[in-house]
Amino acid sequence: MTSSEDALANSTSDASLARSKERSAKIDRAIDENPSRFRILTGDRPTGHLHLGHYFGTLRNRVLLQERGVETWVLIADYQVITDRDGVGPIRERVLALIADYIAAGIDPERSVIFTHSAVPALNQLMLPFLSLVTESELHRNPTVKSELEASDGRAMSGLMLTYPVHQAADILFCKANLVPVGQDQLPHLEQARLISQRFDKRYGRAHPDRPVFPRPEALLSEVPLLLGTDGTKMSKSRGNTIELGMSADETAKILKKAKTDAERHITFDPVNRPEVSNLLMLASLSTGRSPVAIADEIGDKGAGALKAFVTDSLNEMFAPMRARRAELLAHEDYLWSVLHAGNEKANAQADQTLDEVRIAMQMTY
Ligand code: TRP
Repeated sequence: MTSSEDALANSTSDASLARSKERSAKIDRAIDENPSRFRILTGDRPTGHLHLGHYFGTLRNRVLLQERGVETWVLIADYQVITDRDGVGPIRERVLALIADYIAAGIDPERSVIFTHSAVPALNQLMLPFLSLVTESELHRNPTVKSELEASDGRAMSGLMLTYPVHQAADILFCKANLVPVGQDQLPHLEQARLISQRFDKRYGRAHPDRPVFPRPEALLSEVPLLLGTDGTKMSKSRGNTIELGMSADETAKILKKAKTDAERHITFDPVNRPEVSNLLMLASLSTGRSPVAIADEIGDKGAGALKAFVTDSLNEMFAPMRARRAELLAHEDYLWSVLHAGNEKANAQADQTLDEVRIAMQMTY
């Protein structure tokens, strides 16, 4: 392995993770000093509706960064849907619901850009020069792609699955984002984007002598609470063990009533020995801002039923304004599409400009 390929394979190692965390803390302070130095790109695959794992894991954090004055670009990664499935699913409905979720959660379309892959040809064209900058063995070694493939039950790897980290680099680099808020699982992809940026500069050169075409984007690692589904297994829509932002208060209550707990009546916060009960306490904590231990103490001998009622009430209270806003937005589809069209227009203007610089650097100006 060359040292850069090493960097990619090791980007999730303990030492590397510790470095990323330290760097993230530094960036966090730099944001407070001068938020206009940063541009953020984040994205979601429109494969289902957003649930509370997304909300507490990323969405809430994006809104906070926007409020701190960082320019935020939010990508609805529609071409990434077909990396590991046979069709696009009910994609129109899902894209529409995502836009509503974003705005309801506080993404402000006046300040942030919401856009889709499929509407931005120049972004997708970056895939070609970028593919020339990675090796096939490097792609095969990407730890995230490997584990996603393992999770897909022996499904054959498509060419798009193998190369989607390169496409994701195009997502980040086309708009010259220098900051990507990510969970740990996305670190190899970010390292791939950094390598592509660096290699492009070395191999193809620049459009302006004083600066590379692409910045080297950095990860902003968020402290993501590891939330389980209500059955104690990994949270996922297909298992029906999560609560979507768009669910009603009654649906929320119903799912939580069925949540798995354990035989011990006295409620304590003990994630190692009591994962299910502790997970409910985490949800209660995230939605009230109180510590999980304090909530456990308050509930004490009142048992799992009382804990579930507490979680139901606190989640429903927290999500009520968001849900009302979401329903109102979905009643105005034209408005939601107009937000996307405006975002796509901005993304295209930026992508065209970047592709022009790429043509100049590569001497393909005819
Ligand atoms: N792969 C990301 C996910 O599954 C979604 C995504 C697509 C993304 N493009 C991106 C995230 C660019 C960050 C930056 O969550």
